[in-house]
Amino acid sequence: MAKTILEVQDLKKHFTHRKGLFSAVKAEQQSIPAVDGVSFYLKENETVGLVGESGCGKTTIGRTILRLEKPTSGKIIFDGKDITTLSTDELRGLRGKMQMIFQDLDAALNPKMRIREILTEAIEVHHRIAEGSTEKRIAELLEMVNLKKSKLSNFPHELSGGEKRRVGIARVLSVGAQFIVADEPTSALDVSIQAQVVNLLRDLQQQLKLSFLFISHDLRVVELMSHKVAVMYLGKVVEMGMAERIARAAHHPYTHILWSSLTEKQSKEVSRKAVSVQAGRWGVFDFERPVSGCRFAPRCPVYEARGRPEVCTDPANEPELREVGDGHRVACHFPL
Ligand SMILES: Nc1ncnc2c1ncn2[C@@H]1O[C@H](COP(=O)(O)OP(=O)(O)OP(=O)(O)O)[C@@H](O)[C@H]1O
Ligand code: SF4
Ligand SMILES: [Mg+2]
Repeated sequence: MAKTILEVQDLKKHFTHRKGLFSAVKAEQQSIPAVDGVSFYLKENETVGLVGESGCGKTTIGRTILRLEKPTSGKIIFDGKDITTLSTDELRGLRGKMQMIFQDLDAALNPKMRIREILTEAIEVHHRIAEGSTEKRIAELLEMVNLKKSKLSNFPHELSGGEKRRVGIARVLSVGAQFIVADEPTSALDVSIQAQVVNLLRDLQQQLKLSFLFISHDLRVVELMSHKVAVMYLGKVVEMGMAERIARAAHHPYTHILWSSLTEKQSKEVSRKAVSVQAGRWGVFDFERPVSGCRFAPRCPVYEARGRPEVCTDPANEPELREVGDGHRVACHFPL
């Protein structure tokens, strides 16, 4: 049976945000629960997809798991080791095993360095490598990500978006990472290039036995890439299960809305109500206007259709993830 490479338990990351530019008073500060009690596990050679709208906390989860952000609470167990509170020095040894493909295409590529230098630096920082071996390793990496050797002498701004993405992937592989957080690796790319990147990541997973946390706001891409999918809304996972169940038998109203915004195949009624509710006075997606109980209530078509049941907004009754079969879990009082 495949080993569990990552386990995340009740992870929270709250940011403090000043309300006014000149406000230094604590009472004027606001806490943003960007990640608010997320739990899941990832097996070796498996992909967990994380999907949700812009600002729901996807990048923050990825960064906190990799300990680029300090967790507020909860536990992160990587390869059997609790890494939640490791110091920067202690984490250094793990950087070669876990890496991030950054959402921003340019984030990991120093604009003043040629591609050859970027890859050389990544290879040599994490591993002691015999003289002369770096060139061989670079050639291997270029082949893995299907990038022409001639690109090595270019600067990042001379590459297309798809080529930059390939260099970013090569940089992560050069380190020898086994667990990769791939943060929106297909965004900002043309549809045909997006498909190439998804295929590349899938091939690399087979070849190198990689484990991915794959982040995207596009449920179609997440479904294509992932074994399991977690749907996130305002810092919480609201539905989680095998990718085919999330695709064909989603139970949470929010997952239905995500699908209905992409396809016609979901319930027309839910889709019609969703559109009318989103367009109405509740069409706000905001950490700064917290609601009690279920945080999806202000946009939920089921809540509206059922005459706004009290249980949905009862502060003592925030819906927890509950099993509905085959490891499929849903956080809703009235699952569809
Ligand atoms: N360093 C920070 N300081 C304060 N707030 C932050 C910080 N980083 C993120 N946030 C806030 O946390 C929330 C989640 O942000 P995050 O970047 O994780 O969302 P996301 O789901 O990745 O969005 P997108 O799809 O746009 O990339 C947002 O409200 C954001 O403004
Ligand atoms: S708990 Fe109520 S408000 Fe929340 S998603 Fe379910 S039906 Fe909608
Ligand atoms: Mg993001």
